[in-house]
Amino acid sequence: MIENPQRYTVTAALIYANGPIHIGHIAGCYLPADIYVRYLRATGKDVAFISGTDEHGVPITIRAQKEGITPQQVVDKYYGQIKQAFADFGISFDVYSRTSNKIHHETSQEIFRNLYEGGNFTEEVTEQYYDETANQFLADRYIVGVCPVCANENAYGDQCERCGSTLSPTELREPLRSMLSGAKPVLKATKNWYLPLDRMQPRIEEYVNSHREWKTNVFGQCQSWLKEGLRPRAMTRDLDWGISVPLPDTEGKVLYVWFDAPIGYISMTKEWAAEQGRNWELYWRDKNTKLVHFIGKDNIVFHCIIFPAMLMHDSTGYILPDNVPANEFMNLEGDKISTSRNWAVWLHEYLDEMPNKQDVLRYVLAANAPETKDSEFTWKDYQTRNNAELVGIFGNFVNRAFVLTQKFCENRVPALCEPTDYDREVLNELAQFPDRIGQSIAAYRFREGLMHLMDLARLGNKYLAETEPWKVVKTDPTRANSILHIALQITANLSVLCEPFLPFTAQNLRHQLNAEALDKDNLTWLNAGKSDLLTEGHALGQSSLLFEKLEDEVINKQIQKLHDSKRMNELATKTPPEPKGEITYDDFAKMDIRIGTITEAERVAKSDKLLKLRVDDGMGGRQILSGIAKHFTPEELIGKQVTFLANLAPRKMMGLESQGMVLMAEDRDGSLALLPPHKPVWNGGSVS
Ligand code: 2FM
Ligand code: ZN
Repeated sequence: MIENPQRYTVTAALIYANGPIHIGHIAGCYLPADIYVRYLRATGKDVAFISGTDEHGVPITIRAQKEGITPQQVVDKYYGQIKQAFADFGISFDVYSRTSNKIHHETSQEIFRNLYEGGNFTEEVTEQYYDETANQFLADRYIVGVCPVCANENAYGDQCERCGSTLSPTELREPLRSMLSGAKPVLKATKNWYLPLDRMQPRIEEYVNSHREWKTNVFGQCQSWLKEGLRPRAMTRDLDWGISVPLPDTEGKVLYVWFDAPIGYISMTKEWAAEQGRNWELYWRDKNTKLVHFIGKDNIVFHCIIFPAMLMHDSTGYILPDNVPANEFMNLEGDKISTSRNWAVWLHEYLDEMPNKQDVLRYVLAANAPETKDSEFTWKDYQTRNNAELVGIFGNFVNRAFVLTQKFCENRVPALCEPTDYDREVLNELAQFPDRIGQSIAAYRFREGLMHLMDLARLGNKYLAETEPWKVVKTDPTRANSILHIALQITANLSVLCEPFLPFTAQNLRHQLNAEALDKDNLTWLNAGKSDLLTEGHALGQSSLLFEKLEDEVINKQIQKLHDSKRMNELATKTPPEPKGEITYDDFAKMDIRIGTITEAERVAKSDKLLKLRVDDGMGGRQILSGIAKHFTPEELIGKQVTFLANLAPRKMMGLESQGMVLMAEDRDGSLALLPPHKPVWNGGSVS
């Protein structure tokens, strides 16, 4: 671990540009990274915050196939969307780029070549599945067969989506088929370049073991990989989407996406440095640079074992990751977040539907971050944290400090008089907060840091409750002023210390404090903890509520939306009813199906199902009873043309005779639809 780094290179996972981002991504990786970086910047550190989209690999080609567009169109579409959503949410990357850029292709090929020339690859010929119709080797994902665990007939070569088992293509039960052409895949020999991780294990082990300070979940996962024994892993793949292999006779092969993706951190740093007129090498080659990768737990092995193995064997001299503070997963309303099942809160939708509430979500996700184990997001918890904590504690304190100052001090920072013992106690306590919060952040304990921040707001509330300046002002206005002076200094401290977590609120609060009129060094982290952030006599700005209470209605709408989308999804996977047995033409011809118009409709007394219909059948009319009262009101049926079975033997229901049957179509969700002719037809017209 680097003790006193001169600079920091902080990266956040390069997410695949194959779909929008959801709260799980934010809570697992991007929010903690942003809090960390904002804190580093606030404390004057030299930091490069690097991220972008991962635009290669099978996840992209699969999406292209699903959407019926090219891989290039997929990445172009999602890069813009993802970048915008992050920016709107206040994730403060220094650069947000993409792995399709030329500089990235060049950098990846250069590192591949370095490793190749240093003798760090082995060449292996293996048999891989091939689609002879599409003339292409098949990635595991493109092979479909029967799941050996749950017998799902549509399991993929890497995973069964029904039972969640991780598979390899050889485990699938036949018949296998290619997702590209439907053909049966055949085995064919192919040469690829492997990173011999088995041979490299001792050095990797030494590196991992020198980082016992890593989070338990991260260190533990590495240990279990090492214990199992590392195996060689192919760094090239037979695929037509990706970075070409910089070796002769390698047509149809590209670099493995997990080879090039982490190199994206380097190539994106190069882009940023060139723009800034800085030297990128300081951020990747200098021993005094601390390299930190923020990722989700599914990326641990790539960042803690494979990428370091690549870097340590490249003879040009890269630094290795100093820490990889990976989070666990966040669940949603009792279920795993799932893109394919549309069980997610999508960031771009949140930003649209909850305008100006970025900090509420930042707060809830940070307070509930899956730092040590999986955690859970629920809309009710979101509401409670907003109402009870942001409104009830933080907003309440700040608002009281402002309102009292307007009322008793003409909206100017009043003078501090001789502090009482209690004042001194509170000011001493205040002085502890910057370090307390900072230490938590520096140790990647963001939930704890946020708790400390809220404790500062609690301290402010307690101070006002115990000193009661609104009463004191009647007998001792000077003392009341002094109390408000301290309350305002706490508010000013909050505006500084909340910035890593709640940057929009920090900005708002600074504006309300009229920070623009202060010396620019006043409201800084380095100054925080002190009680002279606001100078005596300083005119405050106009105040407004920082947070607003969220009513049940707003929250219920979000919950309903989630459940609706789940239901739509379930319906989409439902199949139509089983086919019935065959019948003859004569069987069919026996049915006298006709068109009629409903002229009267009413409920049948004591039945919640039956409607009594009068149908004009062109032959004097008839009465039909239909069990559709739960689907239609009588009024909406009157005047509608319908198809009915005219020669069904009459039967009695609830003492009334039914002379036929009105035909209905049943939709996926069980709702019913009438079957009117596509143009008005005379009543009694036959259907055949
Ligand atoms: O899991 C993912 O979305 C990967 N694209 C993450 C890559 S992180 C890094 F290596 F670039
Ligand atoms: Zn299965």
